Amino acid sequence: MRVPFFRLSVSDAMRAAVDEVVASGWLTSGPKVQAFETAFAEAVGAKHAVAVNSCTAALHLALEAVGVTTGDHVLVPTMTFAATAEVVRYLGADPVLADVCPMTALLTPEIVEAALDKHPEISVCMPVHFGGLPCEMEEIRKCCTRRGVRLIDDAAHAFPAADNEKPVGTLADVSCFSFYANKTLTTGEGGMLVTDDDDIAARARIMRLHGMNRDAWGRFTVDAAKWEYDLVAPGYKYNMPDTAAALGLSQISDACRDRDRRHNIAAYYRNALEDVAGIRCCGDRADATHAWHLFWIVLEQHPTLHRNEFIEALQELGVSCSVHYKPLHRMSYWKDRLQLDSASFPGAEAIWRGCLSLPLFPDLQAAERDHVIESIRSLL
Ligand SMILES: Cc1ncc(COP(=O)(O)O)c(C=O)c1O
Repeated sequence: MRVPFFRLSVSDAMRAAVDEVVASGWLTSGPKVQAFETAFAEAVGAKHAVAVNSCTAALHLALEAVGVTTGDHVLVPTMTFAATAEVVRYLGADPVLADVCPMTALLTPEIVEAALDKHPEISVCMPVHFGGLPCEMEEIRKCCTRRGVRLIDDAAHAFPAADNEKPVGTLADVSCFSFYANKTLTTGEGGMLVTDDDDIAARARIMRLHGMNRDAWGRFTVDAAKWEYDLVAPGYKYNMPDTAAALGLSQISDACRDRDRRHNIAAYYRNALEDVAGIRCCGDRADATHAWHLFWIVLEQHPTLHRNEFIEALQELGVSCSVHYKPLHRMSYWKDRLQLDSASFPGAEAIWRGCLSLPLFPDLQAAERDHVIESIRSLL
């Protein structure tokens, strides 16, 4: 049996949604983007949603909109994907990398507080809801507000998710979601910037399309002076096409059902692996609703079996796994630029040395799930 790390469930609604857009003849940003934005804002309970072509773009626009510029400093957890930190450099600013909790891979309020005390130059904090598990945002927000630090959460993994029943998307000044190919809702490539702040939303809308004050759909649908637009800033080419928006829109109504399926698989994995010596499962939080984008385990120190060999052995048994992530402080660019030492990141190191992510997607079959567990057990 072969169990892929991720398998997309393609519904009739998804196919029909894309067919409809293709048949309409309007492929780029237009009515479907507007409808997707409205539905997504409603789904997370936020005032504005701005659709873009990646979460990376959303993070970049969010930092730009809150005014990050050359020489600024932004707090970023070391346990994240490249995008969270690279967007800081796009604007000539630098990340300050923070360690994470060894059980959850999250920034905690204590870590944030200590980092902001040590680095008063930090103007923005970017927690990552790692694997779909929300950070303790209420406390983190208090730490930031006390010091006038803006809060932008990297919610790439966290739709739909909540902290203390408040949806991710309403917990920070700006939230950025990813609809990359294997995310909990996917448009192939895509992202969404979500905010309650009118000025941030307005700035992001302009900057996602070259700094134009009117987009193509706006010009097409208004009678007067159809062609005319002004450029108010040197913006970017980050708009989402209608084909992608239609795909996203067709999945929103199933998002909670799919999250529950992921939750059940995660609970099964946890239960089945509880008594397996040499493995620990990712931590959860009682107050949080987890999106379950990832289920990761840590292979604790084993006399002969190391993580990479373990992944290869699982692959031979037909089980595909992945690693999230090699932490940023171990990446050459950041290590050299910020003069980092792994000893400063004990929490991330305790995860990184042995972590691997197991197959987790709504359509994972019971026989596949069992094969994952039996394969892990047989190797240990
Ligand atoms: C934590 C995190 N942030 C940001 C991103 C960037 O998302 P995108 O690929 O949509 O730009 C990813 C992508 O996987 C991610 O995992």
